[in-house]
Amino acid sequence: MLSKQDVLTIGEVATRSGFSTSAIRFYEAEELISATRTSGGQRRFKRTVLRRLAFIRAAANVGLSLEEIRAELGYLPTDRAPTKADWSRISRDWHGRLDEQIQALERLRDGLDTCIGCGCLSLQRCSFSNPEDRAADSADPPGAAYLPPLLRRPHRVR
Ligand code: FES
Repeated sequence: MLSKQDVLTIGEVATRSGFSTSAIRFYEAEELISATRTSGGQRRFKRTVLRRLAFIRAAANVGLSLEEIRAELGYLPTDRAPTKADWSRISRDWHGRLDEQIQALERLRDGLDTCIGCGCLSLQRCSFSNPEDRAADSADPPGAAYLPPLLRRPHRVR
């Protein structure tokens, strides 16, 4: 049986995690975290939710999508802090991912040099609008999808 110190209200979770209550409700609705309900219908979270939320923040900062975060959380325990082995595997994966993102950003930055003083943002000429000439691939969707996949960040809930 959990003591009163072991459970947190959504306001306490928000204060301690730095997430908004709406973000916490969102992650609960997405089943990345869970809560029980009091007889009055109020959420109560186990203290371990703070670890999961910290993990979600770190993963989002690395650029993982919601589905990727869900998959990663599937490997982690729900009722204890991740072990050194857990973090070792995750940090190795994320290190490689960050290297790829850095390289993609460097390519984007290098292309930006030709844009200085221009402003055309042409899909034909501008390597910043159309990095690596992705627009030439007719299978690609238009717009922001021209960004290298690793630099697309559709998931921004805080
Ligand atoms: S803005 Fe013209 S080439 Fe990039």
